[in-house]
Amino acid sequence: MARVLVTRRVPDGGTDLLRAAGHEIVSRADDTPWTAQELAAAAGGVDGIVCLLTDRIDAAVLEAGAAGRLRVVATIAVGYDNIDVDAAARLGITVCNTPDVLTDTTADLAFLLVLAASRLSSTAEADVRAGAWRGWGITQYLGRDVHGATLGLVGYGRIGRAVAQRAAGFAMRVLHHARHDTGEPGYIASLDRLLEESDVVSLHVPLTPATWHLVGPAQLRRLGRDGVLVNTSRGPVVDEAALARALHDGTIFAAGLDVYEREPEVHPELLRAPRTVLLPHIGSASLATRTAMAAMACRAVVDVLAGRSPANRVV
Ligand code: GLV
Repeated sequence: MARVLVTRRVPDGGTDLLRAAGHEIVSRADDTPWTAQELAAAAGGVDGIVCLLTDRIDAAVLEAGAAGRLRVVATIAVGYDNIDVDAAARLGITVCNTPDVLTDTTADLAFLLVLAASRLSSTAEADVRAGAWRGWGITQYLGRDVHGATLGLVGYGRIGRAVAQRAAGFAMRVLHHARHDTGEPGYIASLDRLLEESDVVSLHVPLTPATWHLVGPAQLRRLGRDGVLVNTSRGPVVDEAALARALHDGTIFAAGLDVYEREPEVHPELLRAPRTVLLPHIGSASLATRTAMAAMACRAVVDVLAGRSPANRVV
């Protein structure tokens, strides 16, 4: 019988496939996060790991696993920057992720942030909750119109394209920037030009050395004082300190964020920043999607352990 470490509790039904395949599930009853040392200690005694984006699967964990019988790591996420995939490839450990199944749910949330940030809904709601709203005012909470505005997508993979579909319903003009020419209408080779031409910019790139702090002070200046930034990708794609400064001093108009550089910490100046919508990394958080993501990761583990090729193999 194979043993599979499932690092954290998942929605009901998410691990049914592991049980149906007869695998033993190793988990912790108290659902506390695993330290790197604990993961390394556990990795040596299991055939597969189902992990979350908050688990750091570094070379030490993978080496400990390879010294035992670890064959596969499946993360319940599309992004896999928490896993040392080069080490996994070197050690012959398969890594899988969960694309596609979360595309629409995440695009919905990105569009929610486009709307909420542009229309200052968090600022307005905070006043209502604090009893600070004194009645309708013609000059209050004046946001920017989303309909008819230009949306710039940075990254034009599955999620970026799904956001573009939603934008069409709001009569937005949609531009996109990607590493390679997509050959599609709206492609802009220069990120600087995309920032200058867009009213709202939404980020949809993976976190890699090339995308770390892709948006910093210079890019925020190009987005400009009427610009809105939305980030549902990974926090470190944006220089958070620079973004906080840009919001405080009006370099850009507003921001909608679902991800942060040092989750779950949020930069203190962002917490105090005006015209900012802050969500706790819930891009894929619908019950149906999170359950489907867990099942997809478990299916990959079952396939690898049965000697079949898994659907969403990263390495
Ligand atoms: C969420 O951020 C994911 O990568 O799935």
